[in-house]
Amino acid sequence: MNQTLETIYSRSSVRSYLPDDVPEDDIKEIIKAGFHAANGLNTQALEFVVVQDPERISRYSDLAKDIYNHDCVIRGSSNSILDKIAENKDFNIFYGAPAVIFVFASSEAVTPVEDGSLAIGNMMLAARSMDYGTCWIGMAAGLGYYSTFREENNVPEASGYIGCIALGRPKEVEEHPRGEPKIISWTK
Ligand SMILES: Cc1cc2nc3c(=O)[nH]c(=O)nc-3n(C[C@H](O)[C@H](O)[C@H](O)COP(=O)(O)O)c2cc1C
Repeated sequence: MNQTLETIYSRSSVRSYLPDDVPEDDIKEIIKAGFHAANGLNTQALEFVVVQDPERISRYSDLAKDIYNHDCVIRGSSNSILDKIAENKDFNIFYGAPAVIFVFASSEAVTPVEDGSLAIGNMMLAARSMDYGTCWIGMAAGLGYYSTFREENNVPEASGYIGCIALGRPKEVEEHPRGEPKIISWTK
């Protein structure tokens, strides 16, 4: 199997991390790989926020859970699995990862969600190829529009939140195998 396929098939979400610091150069390389992804009209409009301060990561975890709980009350909707996570005071949504990379898209992006999602996919694979683990943390989404978070990280007012990944050396690796893809039509 070629190295690219090996990287793709061996990546899985990591939910347990070693506290080892991630060197700045490695983070820059991972972000560069994200920025290299295809993007609509090549606007190159993505912006990245890196947090490596453990106190801040832990505070953002609590904040994201609070926002989730608050939003559920407002929306009047919830999800039983996510509710349990958000109610657990001891649960760190970033799983103890020593670094978190947040992705935003400036107003110049014509396809912000697609651009940001492709970038995150690239970052996860680049990280895997460098023996790092990652996990997309959808539970953190509320942080993206929360003023304290945005101000603390100099996020421009017009930039929209796309997603974030936890990043670090894996402590435990789980396999999450896939079934067969459903090809619903194939015309020759
Ligand atoms: C948009 C998105 C949001 C996700 N949010 C979370 C999350 O908040 N917490 C978590 O543990 N995993 C999260 N995941 C990871 C998925 O649960 C994981 O990708 C899926 O179970 C398949 O496992 P694998 O990534 O190991 O192949 C998210 C994945 C995506 C794509």
